[in-house]
Amino acid sequence: MKTLTLTAFTALLGSAAMAQDITGDAAEGEAQFARQCVSCHVIANDAGEVLAGRNGKIGPNLHGVIGRTPGAVEDFRYSDAIIAYGEMDPAEDPTGTAPMGDDIEGMVWGVDNTVAYLQDPTGFLREALDDPRARSKMAYKVRDEQTAHDITAYLVSFSPDFEAGDEPGEGTGDEAEDDAATETETETEADTGTETETETAN
Ligand code: HEC
Repeated sequence: MKTLTLTAFTALLGSAAMAQDITGDAAEGEAQFARQCVSCHVIANDAGEVLAGRNGKIGPNLHGVIGRTPGAVEDFRYSDAIIAYGEMDPAEDPTGTAPMGDDIEGMVWGVDNTVAYLQDPTGFLREALDDPRARSKMAYKVRDEQTAHDITAYLVSFSPDFEAGDEPGEGTGDEAEDDAATETETETEADTGTETETETAN
């Protein structure tokens, strides 16, 4: 049932869903990225052009990370935990944050799982893998949920193919209501699960 409605919803939104996380403010995310992430991460395109950051190499290049399999940058030495997470079946993700949808095969970073990961990388992977000894190599936590959303929205802007409509747990008519409720925000179509916070935050 749910799969069907989600599919229908995804099809309906089509390319309009490309995108922005409703709860996140990409401009704010850009400022936060510059403050919190660039010491370890760069955003550089396939041509090697640095689009954000200062060429930080402690963490992987985050260009196109949203919509990508976790742990997929070729030359980066990831933790076993993030590799295992990337190999997980999204339907079996105990955190319920993995994006799922017709166009998605396997685990990818979406909005909800990225927001959760950013706030506690190791804690998130432990929960996802159901392994209390799992450990992410990313030793940094974004303290504030709204900031995690803002930064994620910023990251989405470097993933033009990502469809935010593929988030899990998003139901059926909810999005329509949310759209109506948040008309002032144009980039709102497709988040999920988090709308309640969003609205109050806005
Ligand atoms: C202290 C260095 C450090 C900081 C600061 C840091 N990261 Fe990371 N990040 C890492 C490392 C190392 C990894 C690889 C994690 C692993 O292998 O478990 C990583 C992984 C990631 C991943 C998963 C990438 C992939 O290819 O699967 C994302 C997304 C991410 N970081 C986003 C961020 C964002 C956004 C910020 C700023 C809020 C940030 N990181 C701050 C070091 C850092």
